[in-house]
Amino acid sequence: MPTNQRWLLTARPVDIPGPQHFVADAVPARAPHAGEALLETLYLSIDPAMRSWMSAGTLYQQAIPLGEVMRGGGIARVLESRAEGLAAGDVVQARLGWQSHPTLAARYLQKIDLGLGTIEDWIGPLGLSAVTAYFGLRDIGALRPNDRVLVSAAAGGVGQVAVQIARIEACRVAAIAGGAEKCAYARDALGAHATIDYKAEADLSAAIARACPDGIDLYFDNVGGATLDAALEHLRENARVVLCGRISQTAAAEPYGIRNLGKLAAVHGRMQGFLVFGYHARYDEARTWLAARLRDGSLRQRLHVLEGLAQAPLGLRMLFRGENMGKLVVRVAS
Ligand SMILES: NC(=O)c1ccc[n+]([C@@H]2O[C@H](COP(=O)([O-])OP(=O)(O)OC[C@H]3O[C@@H](n4cnc5c(N)ncnc54)[C@H](OP(=O)(O)O)[C@@H]3O)[C@@H](O)[C@H]2O)c1
Repeated sequence: MPTNQRWLLTARPVDIPGPQHFVADAVPARAPHAGEALLETLYLSIDPAMRSWMSAGTLYQQAIPLGEVMRGGGIARVLESRAEGLAAGDVVQARLGWQSHPTLAARYLQKIDLGLGTIEDWIGPLGLSAVTAYFGLRDIGALRPNDRVLVSAAAGGVGQVAVQIARIEACRVAAIAGGAEKCAYARDALGAHATIDYKAEADLSAAIARACPDGIDLYFDNVGGATLDAALEHLRENARVVLCGRISQTAAAEPYGIRNLGKLAAVHGRMQGFLVFGYHARYDEARTWLAARLRDGSLRQRLHVLEGLAQAPLGLRMLFRGENMGKLVVRVAS
């Protein structure tokens, strides 16, 4: 039986999560009972939402109890199966937890279709961050050709796909990202028409005005706080604001009070949040669309790969420091 390497949650974060909140241990992997499979984790996705799961929990997820394996989704290979329809060698996605060899009930495992894309595609541009960008823009944002679109955290997992979907749909896209390298990537690799390095701008609203000279029809917000407030000032008539994430606020001591909501009324605009899990029944639709664009070369998603389960806690900290360049994942085994 292989050894199951694990990360256990041992403390709740007050600000940025990181290695100080976890302890590593190793236990023998458990042989599967009837209806279960023993897995070898290949990739884990590292996501901003994990901080909420580590602290108070969310409306859709309870807080992870202290002493338990850290929660996290990923892709694994079946090593041994006692479940109908699952065989050794199958590749599945599931909420695996931060562990190298979980044993899970088959009802929690979803076999992935390697005809649609590679394992790296499934953790990346066919994964949940890309699916989030798809539904956020199209369903919540009612994306239309020629929209003037602004995307924040544009070089990250969700953001880079949002920029490209908007570009593919013939929109004019401005991208906000932290640092010259991320902005260059958004412009040169993702096709953004204008970029804003928010870390280099003393007046973000003025920078948005320069990047979006005709205003904003659709703002895809990944960060909340002062960035959302500045974007609101530049909304056009019938604008849509998609509240995808608020990473600037998750570790903030004081929540930022939005001042420019009056603009939303003035332009007959709409602001709406969403959780991708609400689209579970339609994931296949998004993945079919995304896979077609991967195949024709119009879409890509840069992965930022950390090697080894040992890197997972550091990876989580990187997200909140803006140190990831692309969709952050941990390769646990190849
Ligand atoms: N609604 C949903 O169902 C759903 C699903 C998945 C993700 N999300 C949300 O989508 C957003 C992006 O998630 P992701 O997984 O793709 O992460 P990501 O964008 O790959 O990584 C997070 C990025 O956020 C930026 N950031 C960090 N702290 C910031 C701060 N204080 N102010 C401004 N920007 C900051 C950094 O980019 P810069 O270097 O550019 O600052 C960092 O690289 C998150 O808010 C996440 O919660 C929502």
